Order: sequence, then C-alpha cells, then structure tokens
Amino acid sequence: MDRAAEAPPIIETPDGSRTAFSARFGEAYGSRHGAQTQARHVFVEGTGTHGHPAPRVLEIGFGLGVNFRATLADTAARGVGLDYVAYEFDPAPANWLREVAVGEPGADRPAWQAMLAQWPNAPRRIEAQNVRLTVHFSDVLAADLPQGWATALYLDGFSPSRNPEVWTPEFVARLAGALAPGGILATYSAAGHVRRSLAAAGLNVERRPGAPGKRECLRAVR
Ligand SMILES: C[S@@+](CC[C@H](N)C(=O)[O-])C[C@H]1O[C@@H](n2cnc3c(N)ncnc32)[C@H](O)[C@@H]1O
Repeated sequence: MDRAAEAPPIIETPDGSRTAFSARFGEAYGSRHGAQTQARHVFVEGTGTHGHPAPRVLEIGFGLGVNFRATLADTAARGVGLDYVAYEFDPAPANWLREVAVGEPGADRPAWQAMLAQWPNAPRRIEAQNVRLTVHFSDVLAADLPQGWATALYLDGFSPSRNPEVWTPEFVARLAGALAPGGILATYSAAGHVRRSLAAAGLNVERRPGAPGKRECLRAVR
C-alpha cells in the first residue's frame, strides 16, 4: 500500500513532541527520548546555529523536517535569515510531516507552511521571509555538495548500523569539504568509528553531553 494512504506510524516522545517509525530502516526518524529536544540540543545548539548571525545549514537527511523546524523557529525568534539545503532520498508522506509538526516549534512559520503545501512535489526551493530552503530528493552519496559553504552541517542519517553508507570515512571527508572555515558538523552518534572518521577528515572533534537517552554526542569544527 502507498505510504501516504497509511496512518502515520507516529511515536509520542517524553518531551511532548513526536517522531515516526521508518519501516524501511527499522528505526525511528528522531529520538524516542525527545525528538524536539534532540533537534535543538544536538543540531541547532551543537553547531552554534542558535548564535549565528546568518546560518547556512546543510542537512543529511531531511526526514520529517524536525531539525529544519527547530532551526527555523530559532532564526525567526532572533530575526536572522536562514539558508538551508537538505538531501532526502526517500521522502516521507506529507501527512507524516504535518502530524509530527502539529503545535511544535516552527510549524506556524511561512517557510514551513509553503514547504508542506508543495511536499513532495517540485519545485522544492522555498523562499519566505528571509528563509531559503532547498530539499534535494536524491541520494546524497551521488551529490555534488557545495564546497566550503555550510556554517553548520547536520549529519542525521539513520544509525551507522542501519544506514552505514552515510558514516563511512570517505563520505565524512566529503562532508568536511562542504563546511566553511569555522563551520561545525554535529551528529547524535558518538561512536568511535564516527569520531575517527571526523578526525581523519581534518576536523577538530569534541564530545558533548548527549540529548536525553544518549550519554554523548559529537561536534566537529573545520
Ligand atoms: C534519522 S532520519 C532524519 C531525521 C530528520 N533530520 C528530521 O529532522 O526529521 C534519516 C533520513 O536520512 C535519509 N537518508 C538516509 N540515507 C540517505 C542518502 N544516502 N541520501 C539521502 N537521504 C538519505 C532517510 O531517508 C531519512 O529520512
């Protein structure tokens, strides 16, 4: 059955936010211990985007848009612009994104509303109130990533055991090249092999306290 016709496989999380279960990867899109809290802590704060005057974010992969909404809510509250480029090779149905977003940060913003109105149809470039969003519906492994562009990179694939191809040393080295000088990559994983790949790519890797349910997460600075 077409996924859009199914009831969204929603999971309620302890901070009151929601995520959904991906049958393809056998894993939830966001943290079951608090999806919104993870987005804010690991990605928005982990990359310093919450203090940046003009963030340019690159995300692998867009999923349910929770990280995008958390970023959008932050930049809108601070009155700064946002450039956001994401890759997603298996777009979830619009009703999953909509249901997970109800009442959550960023859901009332024009850029989110404009994106939902089009999802999952082209064009995928949205411009609204100093926000520019492009979602590439393609495999990021085959993408020409922008070079030296991102002030923040959200590495948010499914876990290394289920989605190993976005955590290899080769791909992580390509991601490092997409960061602007001083740019920061953040990820929820603190696995040793991820740390080593980030360091081998020439980034300065730091362990931080994790979001609820995880002892640590990582940030890596170019
Ligand atoms: C953990 S979820 C991301 C959650 C998302 N960041 C959010 O805020 O809702 C991982 C996403 O990465 C996507 N993905 C995995 N491998 C990919 C690839 N090679 N290219 C593009 N997208 C990929 C999956 O389809 C999935 O939507």
